[in-house]
Amino acid sequence: MPRFDAREIDRWDQDVASLAGSLVHEVKNPLSTLNISAQLLLEEAGEPKSPKEQRAVRRLQVMREEIARIEQIVSSFLQYVRLQTIEGRPIDVNALIARLLSDNSEAHERGKIRVHFKAAEDLPKISADEVLLRQAFLNLIRNAEHAMPDGGELIVRTVLAAGDEVAGETREPHVEIEVIDTGVGIPPEQLTQVFRPYVSSKREGTGLGLPTVLRIVRLHGGGIQVESEPGQGSRFVVELPIESSGSDEQ
Ligand SMILES: Nc1ncnc2c1ncn2[C@@H]1O[C@H](COP(=O)(O)OP(=O)(O)OP(=O)(O)O)[C@@H](O)[C@H]1O
Ligand SMILES: [Mg+2]
Repeated sequence: MPRFDAREIDRWDQDVASLAGSLVHEVKNPLSTLNISAQLLLEEAGEPKSPKEQRAVRRLQVMREEIARIEQIVSSFLQYVRLQTIEGRPIDVNALIARLLSDNSEAHERGKIRVHFKAAEDLPKISADEVLLRQAFLNLIRNAEHAMPDGGELIVRTVLAAGDEVAGETREPHVEIEVIDTGVGIPPEQLTQVFRPYVSSKREGTGLGLPTVLRIVRLHGGGIQVESEPGQGSRFVVELPIESSGSDEQ
């Protein structure tokens, strides 16, 4: 009897992802040629004198900005679809977050964002991909910054969560990382949408920040939750197993 195993569909999805990745990769080269050409034209134009020249230079500047925007969209898409596996090594999450916050401290000072880092003392190292984990926390921190255009509090907290039983399922001890802000918050009807690709409320946003975080966290065998109150702020909680299976689950 004819038979079809729906697991095939996952494979098609992966084919589409790798095809899309190749397409985007191909698009990047002509894009950077366009960018350089626009830059050279601007340099050759020098200081525009007549209104006609000024209009031409303005149009060239618009072209460059739009090219830069396409480059950004294309790069974040490429980064997103390429996230398929991780290389787990023992990582000190507290040290990673401390570095990330210190690297961004000037921007936080400028943005009047007060940062509080509450690091758990007893945190064991976890098996993780440092580059990807850094990217995930950076995305969360950037979102918190954007949510506080007039300043506010950014609280990052790490916790060693004991193993527990949730809905009859036993969970191993794991590490929790909370990223809390006192920003604009997320309307309840958007809360279920924020992890979907290309959902963004920002003019310059690609809407791939949180989907990328979700993918990275899942690749580590973890999960993420969000709570938010409009006008009060948001709280993202990342849960990571101490021993990652290095799964390529998506
Ligand atoms: N901490 C936060 N406070 C308020 N809203 C948030 C927060 N984090 C995410 N959001 C909402 O979720 C949307 C999706 O976030 P996501 O990081 O995926 O994309 P983005 O920030 O818009 O763009 P980018 O791809 O540049 O990160 C945001 O546009 C914003 O509306
Ligand atoms: Mg973002």
